[in-house]
Amino acid sequence: MDNISRKLGHIESALDQEPSASCFDSIRLKHRSLPNVSLNQIVLDTQFFDKPTSAPFFVSSMTGGPSESERINRHLAEACNELRIAMGVGSQRITIQDGEASGLNWSVRHAIGDLPLFANFGAVNLPHLKAVQELGRILDPIEADALIIHLNPMQEVFQPNGDTDWRDIICHISEVCEWSPVPVVVKEVGFGLDLNSSKELVSAGVEILDVAGTGGTRFADIEIELNKNISEILSKNDVFDNWGYTTTECLINISRALPSTTCWASGGIRNGLDVAKSMCLDASAVGIAGRVLLPAT
Ligand SMILES: Cc1cc2nc3c(=O)[nH]c(=O)nc-3n(C[C@H](O)[C@H](O)[C@H](O)COP(=O)(O)O)c2cc1C
Repeated sequence: MDNISRKLGHIESALDQEPSASCFDSIRLKHRSLPNVSLNQIVLDTQFFDKPTSAPFFVSSMTGGPSESERINRHLAEACNELRIAMGVGSQRITIQDGEASGLNWSVRHAIGDLPLFANFGAVNLPHLKAVQELGRILDPIEADALIIHLNPMQEVFQPNGDTDWRDIICHISEVCEWSPVPVVVKEVGFGLDLNSSKELVSAGVEILDVAGTGGTRFADIEIELNKNISEILSKNDVFDNWGYTTTECLINISRALPSTTCWASGGIRNGLDVAKSMCLDASAVGIAGRVLLPAT
């Protein structure tokens, strides 16, 4: 299966997924019968990377590359512009591989206007760059406010020709942090950032962690479904259904052990109440992906 068919397969498969059980349902916020506040005075507006936005909320990176992905990212950018919220674009590996014409480009920046927009690249692809400076080719066309590096070892392991050599990837991330002209964010893709990795990332110079935990899009299921060599055995037995950390587990563990690190919540966010609960668990911003894919198509 070529890269384009695989990306289209991800979109179709993600759209078909039934929602998982949510970790947010086991958390109840304190009810106050005497709140001593006027609802009209509650303002969600905030500064995100020194730019005014309507809420500490963003659309999380989804699908980079060829025409359908460009269309989805542009639609998301238009919606973010209308709502005045931030957005991360999907993986921009194709821009580095095939040149600016084939990747996400200025149309996404044009659609979102002056709101915060984040570039995206896979950590496991960093060793294939000729030099770290090549990442400028994904930052510049979209005038990125931050660079998101994604960690997806579980996704790669189920792909027929997945990149499964993660040795020394932390050294490459450290090099990105030293070079990057914009803040570096590291995220998972729906399996949850564990505490040991988080500590290593912070020591390497990463400014922001986005936990991207379980409870929403299940990428193991998507890759297993697309990989006929293993789908018979693995999907029949739901072998990897319980893999990873929930978004709330990640937030609790990271905020306790790394209280001065900026942490974003994502993975399984369904509504504003999940956003509020995430912020009570010390997330400074909250992202949503799978649930906004259908309207974006
Ligand atoms: C179709 C699809 C494509 C995605 N592509 C990317 C990607 O290119 N880069 C990335 O960092 N994350 C990617 N993700 C992962 C999301 O950013 C997010 O971390 C994950 O889906 C969990 O959030 P959710 O439960 O709200 O969907 C993708 C998700 C979906 C559904």
